[in-house]
Amino acid sequence: MTETNFIPENLSNIQEKGACTWKSPSNIALVKYWGKSDPQLPKNPSISFTLDACHTITTLKFQEKKVQDQQFSFDVFFEGKKKEAFKPKIVSFFERIEVYMPFLKEYHFEIHSENSFPHSSGIASSASGLSAIALCLMSMEKLMNPSMEQAYFNQKASFLARLGSGSAARSIEGELVVWGVHPEVVGSSDLYGVTLEQDVHPVFKKYQDTILLVDKGEKVVSSTVGHQLMHQHPFAKQRFEQARQNLAVMLTVLKNGDLDRFVEIVESEALTLHAMMMTSMPYFILMKPNTLEIIQKIGAFRARTQLHVCFTLDAGANVHVLYPANEKKEVLEFIENELVVFCQKNHYICDSAGNGAKLLNEDALNATKLEKQ
Ligand code: DP6
Repeated sequence: MTETNFIPENLSNIQEKGACTWKSPSNIALVKYWGKSDPQLPKNPSISFTLDACHTITTLKFQEKKVQDQQFSFDVFFEGKKKEAFKPKIVSFFERIEVYMPFLKEYHFEIHSENSFPHSSGIASSASGLSAIALCLMSMEKLMNPSMEQAYFNQKASFLARLGSGSAARSIEGELVVWGVHPEVVGSSDLYGVTLEQDVHPVFKKYQDTILLVDKGEKVVSSTVGHQLMHQHPFAKQRFEQARQNLAVMLTVLKNGDLDRFVEIVESEALTLHAMMMTSMPYFILMKPNTLEIIQKIGAFRARTQLHVCFTLDAGANVHVLYPANEKKEVLEFIENELVVFCQKNHYICDSAGNGAKLLNEDALNATKLEKQ
């Protein structure tokens, strides 16, 4: 597949108006994406668990314009309120995807979104938010081209989501998604995420992710700026190579269920991501004192109990605590007893690996169907 495969040819079943609603999840990377080139192509492959509870629900309403004006026209609502501040990001997303969605300027859109997680939780909503919009647009394209196949639908949804936010490419399907070319993952691509097709050991089914909300504030540095810092980074080359190797080992671990090795790689990936930011020029320290307290407590608990709990981090201070479903009781007790004190207002979110995005509603309000000439 190349980019040109995503330029539609067969949009004959033109829709006058309609609406659709998608629920699209967030994801947590085990091997991290950090560093990209234009247009949003990753410098190394990454793999993530698709999450289940943390998601965005987006409704896209579309109405053909009466007068064609060659402008993008849309209103955005977040949790019921009109959000002018979200518009520039969506305009640049539309500009990037227009060649693959050539009908965008022919419609007026209303985009209504809400997140399952609190807005000020420090949890990035770009993966779930942009994948949800991408999926809505794909539903619209599918109405215009009803013979579209599901595999193409998912691939193009991931491709479009990626152009909005890199990690969003991994939020379409589940439970494990690889984004970025890797020689050992058949069909892997820098253009879109692919579901991991190999055998996955049952211990990874419904893998648990308890997200400890250490800092609910605004991000210290946007991921766009963070990725840019990798351009001049003295360790960039080694880092990209290390990620490729870690992914190769991770593929074996996911097959054989070697949880000790899983823990080693996941924690090392998280710390390497932060190490990249700490050794950038300028540098950013995104962990907080409580992040380190939690990391140390997890290490001590693991040594004491021989359970397989580990941590990972995004580009922020919150901690994702990962563990197999059969250790849930003991780990939740540990979180309650020892970790919750380090969370803002004792807040945390219980999540687990999930199966990907879901169409909630599709309404082809075809008042008139026109054949495109
Ligand atoms: C640290 O996907 O948010 O979460 O492509 O600029 O939108 P953009 O970046 P984004 O990068 C986040 C990367 C990460 C690690 C990961 O999810 O792999």
